[in-house]
Amino acid sequence: MTGQFIKGDVHVLWKDLAEKYGPLVRFGPDQVLCTDLESILRITSVRSNYRKSDWYDLARMGDDDNLLSMTDKERRKERRKKVAPAYNGKGAGSHTFSIEAGLDRALTAWTELIDRKYLASGPIFQPFDIAQSVHFYALDSLGEIAYSQSLGYIANDKDMNDVLKINEATLPWMYLLNNHHFFFKLLRKWPFSLLLPRAGDKAGLGAIMGHTTSIIDQRLALSSSEKKVPLPDDMLQSFISHHLTRPELQEEVTVQLFAGSDTVANGIRLCLLHLFSSPRIYRKLQAELDSAYPFPSVSSSSPGPSGPENRTPIPVATCLGLPYLQAVLRESLRILPPVATGGFYKDVSPSGDTVMGFDLPPGTKVATGAAIYAMCHSRAIFGEDADVFRPERWLEAEEAARLESSGKGKREGTGMGEAGKRLKEMEMTLGLIFGHGQFECVGKKLAMMQMNKVVAELVRRYDFTVLNPVRPCKVENALMWLVKDFWVRVERR
Ligand code: HEM
Repeated sequence: MTGQFIKGDVHVLWKDLAEKYGPLVRFGPDQVLCTDLESILRITSVRSNYRKSDWYDLARMGDDDNLLSMTDKERRKERRKKVAPAYNGKGAGSHTFSIEAGLDRALTAWTELIDRKYLASGPIFQPFDIAQSVHFYALDSLGEIAYSQSLGYIANDKDMNDVLKINEATLPWMYLLNNHHFFFKLLRKWPFSLLLPRAGDKAGLGAIMGHTTSIIDQRLALSSSEKKVPLPDDMLQSFISHHLTRPELQEEVTVQLFAGSDTVANGIRLCLLHLFSSPRIYRKLQAELDSAYPFPSVSSSSPGPSGPENRTPIPVATCLGLPYLQAVLRESLRILPPVATGGFYKDVSPSGDTVMGFDLPPGTKVATGAAIYAMCHSRAIFGEDADVFRPERWLEAEEAARLESSGKGKREGTGMGEAGKRLKEMEMTLGLIFGHGQFECVGKKLAMMQMNKVVAELVRRYDFTVLNPVRPCKVENALMWLVKDFWVRVERR
């Protein structure tokens, strides 16, 4: 397995294990892989006694825990109650703020950069590494919604402080070490701990931590100022109004930038990779977007609204009403889930458990995350062509369920019919890419807003050609996918 980690394709090994040995596979002294949907839903449900294992140490950014790295149940519950409102655009009391406005600022800055610097004209063009640039967008957009300031990646159009470079170099090793937790624990001890990032570093994660430290200090000073100054409307202000302490603010703002940037960037990159490789699907999506929210340069004969307002990024509410866009996003998330093979181990509680007929002693680590790739490619759930990117499968399943519930095909008194059950199973399986129940990703809604807006906005504005059709980009797995060198030519439609 270590070899597979180093090669960056451990997800394939886990899929093979599940196919060969069934829904519960023991692959380490105290580690099991579970690919049974019902068992995973039970293990991760709100009332389950399972808790996060020490594997989550990987997510610790500073001296203390954040919501993602916390294993203690009560502490997590308390922290989640305080931070969740911000992720839903809620401040103190009944006050709400617009997350979408922050996303629009970053998306506008990004498309302006593309228009200014990268648009091709005849033989003249500037190669555009969309893998790297999407990451710049993801970081800047998080800055905008977290504390109303872009991090400046788009403005500078470069990997400032080598944050991406260092992240790409260290993530595979941290991921590998963490699977042998003894070594990972050593890394946290002196003198190895000196290698870990710390606020104030000139490069890498530490540089961003230093940046967030000063933002938080300024905001706390502003919030406690005697002068009545208007306070920004953003997630940081929501955290403050929900009484997070100074160190807690530091942990939550930092984890937000890291749990929310690679993941979202990957969701977008991998969706674009599928779209660029499927001209039929790309055109069909473009046609749907042209009818719903045409970009002004699209032929004026296009139906639907037109005019200057459509130069602003497409609203998320419009996106959510577009069935083909929703099917495309679901399908790309299914084929390559952004967090595909993290173990996300949950410890069996002190009373032990029985899963799929096997007794699991207390402390057994059940890998709920490692199963996702295998489950999202299950032929039993998604059909014989489960390995193929085909958004229509979602529309077909929805139509079958609709017909069934409207009478055709549903037998009297049988509750949900076969087609309804199948659609539900597909949706629940896909849902696992964000975790489930008490462990569900707190940034899920925000991530889906990002994916909807960015994919739709790029597709309605531009046409893309990959520069190297033999190998459009490099993709390897290190908990998240590392997607690199995705060079394209961009044209205005
Ligand atoms: C496509 C994008 C994303 C995917 C696929 C994703 C996936 C996940 C997964 C699998 C988990 C862990 C589930 C478990 O422990 O079993 C998680 C947790 C978490 N995610 Fe996300 N995530 C995404 C985007 C985001 C964003 C945008 C943010 C924040 C800005 C975020 C913040 C978090 C946090 C704080 C947790 C810990 C939640 C808790 O333990 O209560 N994620 N996410």
